[in-house]
Amino acid sequence: MQKTFAIIKPDAVAAGKAGSILADIQAAGFTIKAMRMTRLSKPQAEGFYAVHKERPFFGGLIEFMTEGPVVLLALEAEDAIKKWRDTMGATNPEKATEGTIRKKYGTNIERNATHGSDAPETAAFELAYFFTGFELL
Ligand code: RTP
Ligand code: MG
Repeated sequence: MQKTFAIIKPDAVAAGKAGSILADIQAAGFTIKAMRMTRLSKPQAEGFYAVHKERPFFGGLIEFMTEGPVVLLALEAEDAIKKWRDTMGATNPEKATEGTIRKKYGTNIERNATHGSDAPETAAFELAYFFTGFELL
């Protein structure tokens, strides 16, 4: 079993899609190990996306991720990191496969409904960034 970190982003929460996305997550076979709804501060979002700080889209991304509440999730499944990336679909919802979460709920390459860790190292960093050890047991 493997854990990955997910976020239901502000666009999807504001659109009232958090419940549908949680249902999709469970239907896909993930166990929700931890979950918290919160609104990220600018420093929290900047720290989380620090790997992207030189990218041209960084400013817009931080503004987007702090515009409203998000749902933070620790998901468990076999091969959870890849499984969740596949369940979400491509970064750009227009290019995402039919039936994926970003295809169903995303708007554009930035406002794409969900986040997912992309490797074991980033999953470990991201899970620990938002959850404490006892929440992930
Ligand atoms: P995520 O980290 O959110 O799961 O998304 P990802 O791996 O598929 O994409 P990544 O390259 O890590 O980008 C992080 C997030 O930044 C926004 N973005 N905007 N305007 C743009 O060209 C652009 N490119 C990326 C998206 O919200 C993307 O999910
Ligand atoms: Mg990424």
